[in-house]
Order: sequence, then structure tokens, then C-alpha cells
Amino acid sequence: MTHDRSDALFARASTVTPGGVNSPVRAFRAVGGTPRFIHAADGARLTDVDGREYVDLVGSWGPMLLGHAHPEVMAAVREALARGTSYGAPTEAEVDLAEEIVGRTPVEQVRLVSSGTEATMSAIRLARGFTGRDLVVKFAGCYHGHVDALLASAGSGLTTLAVPGTPGVPETATALTRVLPYDDRDAVAALFAEEGERIACLITEAAPGNMGVIAPDPGFNQFLATTCAAHGALFVSDEVMTGFRVSKTGQWGLDGALEGWQPDLMTFGKVMGGGFPAAAFGGRTDVMQQLSPVGPVYQAGTLSGNPIAATAGLTTLRLATDGVYARITEVGDAIKDAADKALSDAGVPHVVSSAGTMFSVFFTDGRVRDFDDAQRQDTAAYAAFFHAMLDRGVYLPPSAYEAWFVSSAHDDAAVETILAALPAAAAAAREAARG
Ligand SMILES: Cc1ncc(COP(=O)(O)O)c(C=O)c1O
Repeated sequence: MTHDRSDALFARASTVTPGGVNSPVRAFRAVGGTPRFIHAADGARLTDVDGREYVDLVGSWGPMLLGHAHPEVMAAVREALARGTSYGAPTEAEVDLAEEIVGRTPVEQVRLVSSGTEATMSAIRLARGFTGRDLVVKFAGCYHGHVDALLASAGSGLTTLAVPGTPGVPETATALTRVLPYDDRDAVAALFAEEGERIACLITEAAPGNMGVIAPDPGFNQFLATTCAAHGALFVSDEVMTGFRVSKTGQWGLDGALEGWQPDLMTFGKVMGGGFPAAAFGGRTDVMQQLSPVGPVYQAGTLSGNPIAATAGLTTLRLATDGVYARITEVGDAIKDAADKALSDAGVPHVVSSAGTMFSVFFTDGRVRDFDDAQRQDTAAYAAFFHAMLDRGVYLPPSAYEAWFVSSAHDDAAVETILAALPAAAAAAREAARG
């Protein structure tokens, strides 16, 4: 099975771009081999530059809820394109998209930006500006984009002090960040007891999807919201991945609506951009009114609310009906069950983990509640599994720590391709498994 053109492109790319890719995980470093360069995508399928087809379980890392090149999204985008690509002035599409987000989620006002990173960065700045405080709290293993202050890992020992997670982030940038273990109420309570008056906000993935998928323990988000409120800190629920994916509204719709908590601020991205660079942050009106030009907290963007991106996002959200979520649930369940069975039959330790319609498979046994648990995975087993699936025409995330994304365009044939590939992939994982 050749991938000569992908290999040739990767060689060219590596000369002019660090690692040959424009976002690290695409490089296949975690699984070995060279990345496939994609030529086209349609529905549930990708076609690479060598003409090979794959059933896609990455979905552009989440945005493609309706599958690739959905005819109605494409038509809306074509119509918008004919009217120009960017004006730097307000448009109707932005208003429509903002109303759609406000209508589906607890946020009262929203501002559009171009990436999830920008959304979380801006939300934190706003929280600091609103509260006049400086500390930001996050959880180990939660990813909120490559914001300096959030690219932090937990310090050694029992301390919650954050250390920069990468060269290039100075200690001063993370000195005001505190990192806690996920799902650890005692650690949250202790930190707020000690430093609560300095905490501007706590940010969490509404359901973690960046250390593999972990469903929050029932009541955990509610506990966070209550703790923040008790200390005058803002609760920022990052729904860049979960928003409009886990359910029609996101994780908030799953447990927030049930448990009755409300975030002060939320961040969105991925699905709401319909495959274009669009993201958003929003929340309580009194907080959002602190933003420039009404309030003193500055935030801006040349391409913010870009009319093509707003059109794609709006069309996607309007098409994301109950039927779409029902199909995604059905497809996800079929894949989860089959993966579980194949890995069990092959004797590969694993945990199938989901939050709403989002899921992943951890190549470990035991409970996975936090980043330490997730890191016990056998990544060599996953790499073998990944390549066996790829060889059989299934494109999984090239890392054991990522969610598997399905779409409503995953038809029965696509599901069949996945199910047919699983037993051999499980056997390959068994071969590669440690011990
Ligand atoms: C929960 C979460 N927040 C923020 C981001 C950053 O978004 P972006 O990659 O668009 O900057 C991501 C990206 O995967 C994410 O999953």
C-alpha cells in the first residue's frame, strides 16, 4: 500500500514548516510513520493525495458534526462567498450566529473570535478585568488552547503551583496559574480556602476531551460553580470541544440543565464554525459589558465574525437537529460496543469512556478519572491499533489522548468499515502491548 505522494509532500513540508505540519498532533509523532496528506473530504470519508479513502473518525478534531462538505453548508458558503470574503464591518450573519448561540446556551451575550485559543484567552482576560483579581485555576490534563497562562502543568509534590508546560512560556506567565487534579473536590476546596480572594476564575473543560474523554463526576461542575460563586470568582466552562457536540447545547445541556448550575462565562469553537476558523466566548451580560467598546477590557480581531465562517457555523448549528444527535449517538454506540468487544476478545486492557456523544478508548484498565490515570495508557498498543485501523481504511486520531469524533454523515457502510477493521486492530494492539 503506497503513500508516495503523502511522503513526498511531507518531505517538502518538513523543509519549509517545522515538523511538516501546522499543528503538532497532525505529525503522527505519537504513533510513528508519516501523516497522510488529505486531498478531499465528503460525508464520513477522507481521500488522501494518493487516492486512498478513509472513514474519518477525527472530523477535523471536532467541527464536522454533519460530516464533510455537507451540501447545505456548502451552498450557504458559496452564496456568502459570492458577496465577498471579509469586510471588517458588522454583518447579519454575525447577529444570526450570536442569536443562535444565545438561544441554545445559558450565555446572555457572546463575542465571536477566530479560534478556541482566542476564546479562552479572552475569557480569562475578561474574568480578570471584571473581578480585579489575578489568579486563574485550571485542571491538569484539561487543554484550553495554547494560551501562555494555561500551558502549565502541575508543580511537583503536593503544591498546586503551575510550571510552564513548554519552553517559551516564562515562569511569570504561569505564576498566576494554579493547577489542580481533575475531579478532586478536596483540592479545589483547599485552594479556594487558601487563595479564594485572589482567584479571578476557574476554567475547566465542561467534560474533558483532551486527555481522552472523561465524563465529569455527577455534581462536579455544579460544585465548581458553587465554589466559585462563594468566593466571588467566575466559573468559566470551556465548551470549545463539547459545545453543540456532546448534545445540542453541549455538556451544559447534559448536566447544567439537570443540576441547575450556570457558568459565568463559556467558550465555544469547533462545531460552531462549521469547519471554518470561528469561535466565541460569552456569558453574563454584566460581565460581557466590561468588554471594549462598552467597558474597559480590550479585545479585538481583524477577522472576528468573518462572514464566511459565521455562515458556515450558523448553517451547521441550524442543521444540528435532534435527528443529528440521535444518529451520532447510534453510530458512537455501535463503534464503542464493537471496540470494547474486539479489545476484550483480544485481551487488550482498555476502558471505553464517554461523555454524551463524545467518546474515546483508553488503553489501560481501571478507573480513568484524571490525567494521572490517563497517562497510565499503553501508548505503544494504541500506536499499533491506530496503524492497523489506518491500513484498513479508518482514520483515527493519531494520539491515544484524543476523542474519536463521529458525524451524522457516518452511514451504515462507514460504520461497517470501522467494525470490520476492529478485530485485526485489536490483535495488533495485543501484539504490541507491554508485558
Ligand atoms: C477544550 C478546548 N479548548 C480550547 C481549544 C483550543 O481551540 P483552537 O485549537 O481552536 O485554538 C481546544 C482545541 O482542541 C479545546 O479542545
